[in-house]
Amino acid sequence: MTFTNPETGVSLRKFKLEDKQGLIELANNPNIAKNLRDGFPHPYTEEDADNFIQSSIESEPTTRFCIEKNGVYVGNVGLHPDSDIYRKNAEIGYFIGEPFWGQGIASQAVKMMVEYGFKELKLHRIQAGVFDYNVASRKVLENAGFEYEGTAKEAIFKHGKFYDELKFGILNPYEK
Ligand SMILES: CC(C)(COP(=O)(O)OP(=O)(O)OC[C@H]1O[C@@H](n2cnc3c(N)ncnc32)[C@H](O)[C@@H]1OP(=O)(O)O)[C@@H](O)C(=O)NCCC(=O)NCCS
Repeated sequence: MTFTNPETGVSLRKFKLEDKQGLIELANNPNIAKNLRDGFPHPYTEEDADNFIQSSIESEPTTRFCIEKNGVYVGNVGLHPDSDIYRKNAEIGYFIGEPFWGQGIASQAVKMMVEYGFKELKLHRIQAGVFDYNVASRKVLENAGFEYEGTAKEAIFKHGKFYDELKFGILNPYEK
């Protein structure tokens, strides 16, 4: 399963077992891990890559994609569906390998993932929580049409310090 935007050269495609080394090269980076939940491993080992790719391949419907730019694997984007009374929502998560930052790739990939989440997964709402200092990620979400909904003061505890969490959300425009 692959989605391509011919204008930008950005594609989302399902993971393959052969993505393992590429994933480790992109993901094993403290500049990425410091902006994500502790569940994102650092260092990022072969076992982490095996587990991630295996569960991504098995998941149906697909909720995690490789991001490619002109056929080169440059990052990951995923939707994590919520449960119970929040079951119509999903949290979006993403990273781009550091050599590829600042080319508009995350903004394009998040837009494509949001379309997929609303049209194919029929989600009602997609949301994200951003560390207060992560200006690039805030812009990615705004570029993809998300609205800033508020700040959860010192909700994040990462590497021994508290950070405010900025909440962003977008509602499905295709439902009505
Ligand atoms: C956040 C991240 C995904 C951005 O990826 P990217 O492909 O470089 O993003 P884009 O190129 O689409 O840039 C989006 C905007 O941020 C700006 N930007 C990029 N890096 C920036 C930086 N270090 N500081 C400030 N602004 C920055 C871009 O200029 C662009 O601004 P514009 O909309 O005004 O043109 C990437 O830096 C990353 O993977 N970071 C680590 C993981 C992470 O933070 N994930 C998100 C967790 S919520």
